Amino acid sequence: MRTPILLVHGGAWAIPEDAAAAHENGVRNALDAGHRVLTRGGSAIDAVEAAVTVLEDDPTFDAGRGSFLTSDGRVQLDALLMDGGRMKAGGVACVERIRNPIQAARLVLEQSPHVYFVGAGAEEFAQSHGMPLIENAELVLDRERERLKIAREREAAGLADATFSGLEDDKGPETAIPRVIDSSHDTVGAVALDTDGNIAAATSTGGTLNKTPGRVGDSSLIGCGCYADNLSAAVSLTGWGEPIMKLVLGKWATDRVAAGTAPAFAAREAISYLHNRLGGHGGIILLGPDGRFGMAHNTPAMAWGLATEHGLETGLKI
Ligand code: GLY
Repeated sequence: MRTPILLVHGGAWAIPEDAAAAHENGVRNALDAGHRVLTRGGSAIDAVEAAVTVLEDDPTFDAGRGSFLTSDGRVQLDALLMDGGRMKAGGVACVERIRNPIQAARLVLEQSPHVYFVGAGAEEFAQSHGMPLIENAELVLDRERERLKIAREREAAGLADATFSGLEDDKGPETAIPRVIDSSHDTVGAVALDTDGNIAAATSTGGTLNKTPGRVGDSSLIGCGCYADNLSAAVSLTGWGEPIMKLVLGKWATDRVAAGTAPAFAAREAISYLHNRLGGHGGIILLGPDGRFGMAHNTPAMAWGLATEHGLETGLKI
């Protein structure tokens, strides 16, 4: 029987001091929920779903209620989870009427021969499997309306960090850094190892502030912001999605673990690669089936939590 392990993250960015406690409490609550599942002998996939559900329900984070708004003022959510023991995955993107997209993704994983649903089709699939649909306005906070207003004013004034549409390839990393370093990337995620030795990963996000409706980021794309395979590792990423997608960075990191690199080192290598290749910023949690793990970020902070046989820990920097 394996000793269970759980890692969670609540986004990597310049978390301001007045938001630090909320971030640390949030990851602590998520850790508690996921760890309870694991210590009762529950599966890694149940643990990551439980942990991410708590983070989606916490308006501190850019996932579920309280997410960033699209340029037309709506919440559009993306989520993926993957079971590395069964090699099953489920994902949803651009959903607007689902409170917990990670639970909709789990329905896809368990109940569908398909792997990924988007938009209205995803919502109809979830509803047909018993999930109530809500009004999009229930996910929208005044805090986010204000944040969008400022972003749009900055955009109208021609200021570079108004959106996160990503021009890193033609402007080069040096130009990209100041645009994103202080920007919030509160995408949430979890990776777990259960007592049966199976690993799983989950990632959920509201995407980037002022995104064009229909935009999908890295978080819910297999191998980009989330991946798990018992033969390699489980990974969840947070950060500016476009560079992560172009590098298929989650799979890049798990392949390195499969090739023998220690997860602690592979996590750091992945974030260096993200920055050196495309000027990207973000964070990663990475867990091997042998229980070795790694975390890294190149942002000023990343909210993280870790549960091992030594107890539960949280922090805002690695
Ligand atoms: N990493 C979240 C996003 O870019 O959508």
